[in-house]
Amino acid sequence: MRVVSGIQPTGDLHLGNLLGAILRWVRMQDEAECLFFLADLHALTVDGDPTTLRANVREMAAALLASGIDPAKSILFAQSQVREHSELAWILQCVARMGWLNRMTQFKDKSGKNKEGSSVGLFTYPVLQAADVLLYNATHVPVGDDQKQHIELARDIALKFNNDFEVELFTVPEPFIGGGTAARVMSLRDGSAKMSKSDPSDMSRINLTDSDEAIAQKVRKARTDPDPIEADPAGLDSRPEAKNLVGIYAAVTGSSVEAVAAQFAGQGFGTFKLALADALIGLIAPLRTKLVELRGDPAEIDRILAAGADKARALAAPTLAEAYRAVGLTT
Ligand code: TYM
Repeated sequence: MRVVSGIQPTGDLHLGNLLGAILRWVRMQDEAECLFFLADLHALTVDGDPTTLRANVREMAAALLASGIDPAKSILFAQSQVREHSELAWILQCVARMGWLNRMTQFKDKSGKNKEGSSVGLFTYPVLQAADVLLYNATHVPVGDDQKQHIELARDIALKFNNDFEVELFTVPEPFIGGGTAARVMSLRDGSAKMSKSDPSDMSRINLTDSDEAIAQKVRKARTDPDPIEADPAGLDSRPEAKNLVGIYAAVTGSSVEAVAAQFAGQGFGTFKLALADALIGLIAPLRTKLVELRGDPAEIDRILAAGADKARALAAPTLAEAYRAVGLTT
């Protein structure tokens, strides 16, 4: 079992990342060999500022360390520092089909009405993501639900490559979603949109850097409906905002949606929100304190990332060499 996953170093780590992916990564460190990376090459697919990108890589690395990623157990690195990712991505771009990429919903969402003006990188983004996991023969890729389609594409690319070049080079990876974590955390302002760094309203998400007061205020102002919580969680299906808050509470407290619905049955959201804010502050406050501490030693973060990149390169280089051989670039 080998676990590989990444996160874009854009903006703050938020509750969706934490519950959908990062807390799972932390647990998996004790179960398998793990590689986690800052997807800084992916961050280039949308316009950004070079100085901000560099700062964000360090900040996101600190946020992962604060959340419990332990460099003694896992390999933590920045994607751009392991050139094999880009090199394999090119080869895989020649394997992936236009039709496959045309089906990717994230490109449609992110390009919106500006398809013609989007970078080519935004379109081929999922192929780089396939290279990220295939380079290391990942067996499991822990991600939130929104990344499932990209991991399925990586599976298709692995199978086509192995088949076309008659090799057994790439392991076909499994997306690893849910299982005690919230696969899909929604915006606090709109139960039909996922919680995301790109939402213009900061009130829509809870960040790792939020103060206790900010967390309490965001929860208080979170959109809900006037009805009380029902004991049967099926009743929440038609109430997306209510369902989201109950799901977050369950994920944060490590209980099931059924148990939470039973515990708060008949109560309105006034009471529930107080309990939710307390639970969120209990989760986030210690991580925030750790993050502030880690920010004080950027040289240490750089050292951890450099050591991680060295280890990742050693694992990636043989796979890339095999890929070069398989396609006929070397003998
Ligand atoms: P990114 O940076 O958008 O998000 C990082 C992780 O957080 C999960 N996530 C969520 N989960 C539940 N609810 C939400 N609202 C929510 N928002 C984010 C994401 O599913 C993801 O697991 N393309 C990836 C980064 C990447 C990658 C990879 C991931 C690049 N290469 C290879 C896995 C393997 C991305 O943009 O994630």
